[in-house]
Amino acid sequence: MPESSVKLALLDTIEARKATVTVIGLGYVGLPLAVAIARAGHTVVGIDLDAGRVDAINSGRSYIEDVSDATIADLIELGRLSAATDFSAATTADVAVIAVPTPIDEYRIPNLSYVASAATNLAAVMKPGSLVVLESTTYPGTTEEVVVPAFMAQGRTPDIDLFVGYSPERIDPGNEAFKIENTPKIVSGLTIDGLDLTAAFYGTFIDTLVPVSSLQTAEISKLFENIFRVVNIALVNEFQIICDRFGIDVWEVIAACSTKPYGFMPFYPGPGLGGHCVPVDPFYLAWKAREKRVNTEFIELAGRINANMPGYVVHRVTAELNFIHRPLNGSKIGVLGVAYKKNTSDVREAPALSVIESLLDGGASVSYHDPHVAQFKVDGTVLEGKELSAAWLAEQDCVVILTDHDEIDWYLVTSHAPRIVDTRNALRRFAPVVAASVKEPSPA
Ligand SMILES: NC(=O)c1ccc[n+]([C@@H]2O[C@H](COP(=O)([O-])OP(=O)(O)OC[C@H]3O[C@@H](n4cnc5c(N)ncnc54)[C@H](O)[C@@H]3O)[C@@H](O)[C@H]2O)c1
Repeated sequence: MPESSVKLALLDTIEARKATVTVIGLGYVGLPLAVAIARAGHTVVGIDLDAGRVDAINSGRSYIEDVSDATIADLIELGRLSAATDFSAATTADVAVIAVPTPIDEYRIPNLSYVASAATNLAAVMKPGSLVVLESTTYPGTTEEVVVPAFMAQGRTPDIDLFVGYSPERIDPGNEAFKIENTPKIVSGLTIDGLDLTAAFYGTFIDTLVPVSSLQTAEISKLFENIFRVVNIALVNEFQIICDRFGIDVWEVIAACSTKPYGFMPFYPGPGLGGHCVPVDPFYLAWKAREKRVNTEFIELAGRINANMPGYVVHRVTAELNFIHRPLNGSKIGVLGVAYKKNTSDVREAPALSVIESLLDGGASVSYHDPHVAQFKVDGTVLEGKELSAAWLAEQDCVVILTDHDEIDWYLVTSHAPRIVDTRNALRRFAPVVAASVKEPSPA
């Protein structure tokens, strides 16, 4: 079939890096993405329902740690980046990227209302012949079942005046080595033309593209990446409990196993899963698989094991207190790190929530220090972060390390905390990967 002039015109605009691109949802995914697209030369109009975020961007301020104020201000100054709360700002867009949240509810049922509303609002204003790409993590079938129908309801026809792609985000907040540009990106299209345009678009700012044959393949690939992590984290969490019973340090075991040059990949235990992705995404597949009458037993089991880890942390704290004949009730517990991940301020689904809630329920007096989080809300109670000081550490009955932020002075912690439960190997008793050779160097 000859390529349509509509497609060729859009391809020219994209390849010349002169596209007007709208990014819907300017969060952890959308804002860095908007910046990468603008840096490639395109003009980006970000749309977010949160007026505070929109105002921040338009005044040259960032609210995401991986993006600096200067970066935003420079792009605003160049006229390459702006933000709006109103979808009418997308009227001139050649390309739209949707990066809105895909949470689950309390029954672990996917909530696609954000994607559906973004697609409906976009479809109402976008000009014919544009490319729409979904980046939100979701179950296989979403792009075709939710995004495409929203545009078809406005009279658009795939490959005539509508091109559709799905490309899952792999952003790793806080990762200094792998950014958007140098992380290979999976791309897919509803049709060949959709794939061509999606690949051309991402090719203007991403080094390595991985085209796959269908939207569903791309959608489920992202889920499998996260399920792979969740299952392996659950395995190592369970393994930690086994090692603890034997009196063996799990971190030493992992360090030893990591020296095997093939067939072993280290995963590390922790206080439980956190963030917007890893604890949530597997349940997107579990839910959708039920439609196909397939059981997702690994996912369910991993979910149960990981969900029990905050309780295991509390058990370790009470065991430490037992040594000094103290009950949890009335003890002072200092928590180090409440963000779900080191070097970030993201507290969504953080295990610190459950750990602190259980400690408070048990009658403990809990305070915390986190260099990235000034205030932490647990079950309606707002805790104010403490300065990390010798005095604060010394007055605790037990200090529990939940997040191993690089800025924390671990020497100060070990020098003054009377008892420590270290859920992250923050004290680095064992390096994650030891040297392959343990032989003493031969004498010269
Ligand atoms: N955070 C990560 O590390 C990460 C990594 C890979 C993939 N993802 C996926 O990317 C998607 C977005 O995640 P995030 O972490 O950026 O979320 P986020 O909550 O940080 O940001 C989402 C933004 O979308 C806005 N928004 C919500 N509904 C909207 C609508 N209808 N129209 C316009 N704006 C709207 C919100 O106000 C918010 O600013 C999710 O599907 C997530 O699973 C996240």
